[in-house]
Amino acid sequence: MILIVYATTEGQTRKVARFCADELAGMGEGVELLPAAEARAEDTDTRAYDALILAGSVHAGRYQSDLVDFARTHAGGLNTARTLFLSVSLAAAGEDPDDWKGLEEGVSRFTAKTGWTPGRVVHVAGAFRFSEYDFFKSWAMRWIAAQKDQEIDPHKDKEYTDWGALRAELRAWRDG
Ligand SMILES: Cc1cc2nc3c(=O)[nH]c(=O)nc-3n(C[C@H](O)[C@H](O)[C@H](O)COP(=O)(O)O)c2cc1C
Repeated sequence: MILIVYATTEGQTRKVARFCADELAGMGEGVELLPAAEARAEDTDTRAYDALILAGSVHAGRYQSDLVDFARTHAGGLNTARTLFLSVSLAAAGEDPDDWKGLEEGVSRFTAKTGWTPGRVVHVAGAFRFSEYDFFKSWAMRWIAAQKDQEIDPHKDKEYTDWGALRAELRAWRDG
């Protein structure tokens, strides 16, 4: 049985986590999908699983506190299990070396804060979800898009997630 624990702010990581659950189920694996906020209430026993995936998204360089709390609480069990960390961000949609350095630093901070060292880390390109943003977020994200010369229509969501690449990463992790 594989447990997928995820945290999302605008919904893309939920979509990523569901995709992973469907893919793994398609490969014949038993899968449980749990929002990080609920994992605590459920008093999850990580030792009950053969492998675990944690997924979260980057906002101002950081992951959701529910995911940080889960990883910190279960670091002992996670460190001895087969694990995968999916980090969803917009930086992962591009090739800017500084952005990628920022992503690596974000993962290092997460690892230091939680005490969990993921068996494998995969950076997943996320999405602009203007339909979920308030006025200020929308303004900030339009500014970010302009800085990156990204063609966006602020009335439309735009997804960068490469589902085929994610499928290949999942398979490599499962078989590795
Ligand atoms: C307010 C805000 C801040 C963000 N900060 C970052 C960031 O620092 N680095 C980055 O690569 N992406 C950043 N993003 C992009 C998100 O990581 C991306 O939209 C992702 O798909 C969000 O996933 P979620 O919908 O699961 O929360 C930010 C997005 C928002 C709305």
